[in-house]
Amino acid sequence: MPDEHAWWQRGVVYQVYPRSFQDSNGDGVGDLPGILSRLDHLAALGVDAVWISPIYPSPMADFGYDVSDYTGIDPVFGSLDDFDRLVVAAHSRGLRVILDYVPNHSSDQHPWFVESRSSRTNQKRDWYVWRDPAPDGGPPNNWLSEFGGGAWTFDSATGQYWYHAYLPEQPDLNWRNPEVRAAMLDALRFWLDRGVDGFRVDAIHHLIEDAAFRDNPPNPDWKPGMSPARRVVRARTMDLPEVHDAVAAMRRVADGYPGDRVLIGEAYLPIDRLMAYYGADLSGFQLPFNFHLLSTPWRAREIGALVERYEAALPPGAWPNWVLGNHDRSRVASRLGPAQARVAAMLLLTLRGTPTIYQGEEIGMQDVPIPPERVQDPWERNVPGLGLGRDPVRTPMQWDAGPNAGFTRAKAEPWLPLAPDHAAVNVSAQSADPRSMLSLYRALLALRRTEPALSVGSYVPVEGVAEDVLAYERRDDATGRRLLVALNLGGQERELPRAASGRGRVLLSTCLDGGAARLRPDEGVVIGEPAAGVSSPA
Ligand code: NOJ
Repeated sequence: MPDEHAWWQRGVVYQVYPRSFQDSNGDGVGDLPGILSRLDHLAALGVDAVWISPIYPSPMADFGYDVSDYTGIDPVFGSLDDFDRLVVAAHSRGLRVILDYVPNHSSDQHPWFVESRSSRTNQKRDWYVWRDPAPDGGPPNNWLSEFGGGAWTFDSATGQYWYHAYLPEQPDLNWRNPEVRAAMLDALRFWLDRGVDGFRVDAIHHLIEDAAFRDNPPNPDWKPGMSPARRVVRARTMDLPEVHDAVAAMRRVADGYPGDRVLIGEAYLPIDRLMAYYGADLSGFQLPFNFHLLSTPWRAREIGALVERYEAALPPGAWPNWVLGNHDRSRVASRLGPAQARVAAMLLLTLRGTPTIYQGEEIGMQDVPIPPERVQDPWERNVPGLGLGRDPVRTPMQWDAGPNAGFTRAKAEPWLPLAPDHAAVNVSAQSADPRSMLSLYRALLALRRTEPALSVGSYVPVEGVAEDVLAYERRDDATGRRLLVALNLGGQERELPRAASGRGRVLLSTCLDGGAARLRPDEGVVIGEPAAGVSSPA
């Protein structure tokens, strides 16, 4: 039977944070030739696509999420030729390339903003969000920046404020202006023409603000210790209905190209509001990121309920997806501990829906404490001490036990410190260890590839299981093949679900030792009849 699933439905996405993946020129910052030199790691891991966080020219106020040219490459990362070579090399290994697209804001150094700022009558004035001061001369309203402080910065030369959902160096583009839309859609075409397979679209829920600039209401749930930006409910600045029209326009551009180009949207939203990002009649993102595993308490009942709530909310024909970590959130091995990180890996790679793996998760990297003098993240600098800073999850990839973990040959320190455990926790050491986290990721990805039940099969929860156990079946409706997944989210030995009996044997255990008659502490298993001709790496 022909496979009617797109590559991004069957496949697995791997996120590269380019500053920290591999440095090729010894400046202590990762780059495109570095990524190219490590593609074999991704191919051996068994992922299908690599999403690369921004590589465009940028003053790096927010490390690339402040773009000063949407159609270039920052010299710190290399050149357009390097980029073209990377795409060819990735494609030759069967890996797709997904770029990060940052439509909400540019850099304040982007020529568009430089012009816009130059005078009130400049032809690009309306490309950004400018507003007169309030009668008292203060900011036009109470909107707050995600990174601390107000969301308005005064331009004394022209006597108006500009709006920035993030840093002042990241002025918001005005997507209500058709010229902005056209220019930003052209940026998509530029990269699609160069052969990219899709985009992860940054901060999409921030794209458009209230046309009347009304205040955001106060947040009654805000408490000291929470991000100061949460003092208000972002009712007037986030998730406005007009966003969907802009997303549909992006999608039409991507759909104009052959080969199933994919759009993945970044929006941290409750499930019901997230669903709107699939768009009317699925005219929006193919994959609006589902971040709910990042915030749901790690208990079997709650995770099971989350999966069911999410599955039930999906519009007809919409494809699910799951995320365990990214460059903005505490690493899974730090949140849950190393033992449960293995169970989480099995969950991620056996749930229905496209998984995204963040670089370093495959070796169990942990958050790295950053001494105050090494802090890079502007969020931590602006709002210190609340644990909001993202440097701990952005430290260099740990490749081997050599100097700087093989990340850079720089004599000086890399841009962020290496994890103290890098001599033991690295790709090379774990490749040689058949029970390592890396071996587990490879085995999970290999099993997912050989078992359509895991990649595209349906999801059926299994009820009546022991405490701490999350169990579900994945069924390949085309062949009738069924696999049972049982995950012990606790530290006590538990019975396998009754449904396991007569179902075959353990095809893969997170212990990578063939499995046992009971679920051991922190163990997950996939159970099924051995597939003909497939030797499993249990
Ligand atoms: C979300 C990105 O993931 C984050 O790293 C960035 O700081 C903000 N958007 C602003 O672009």
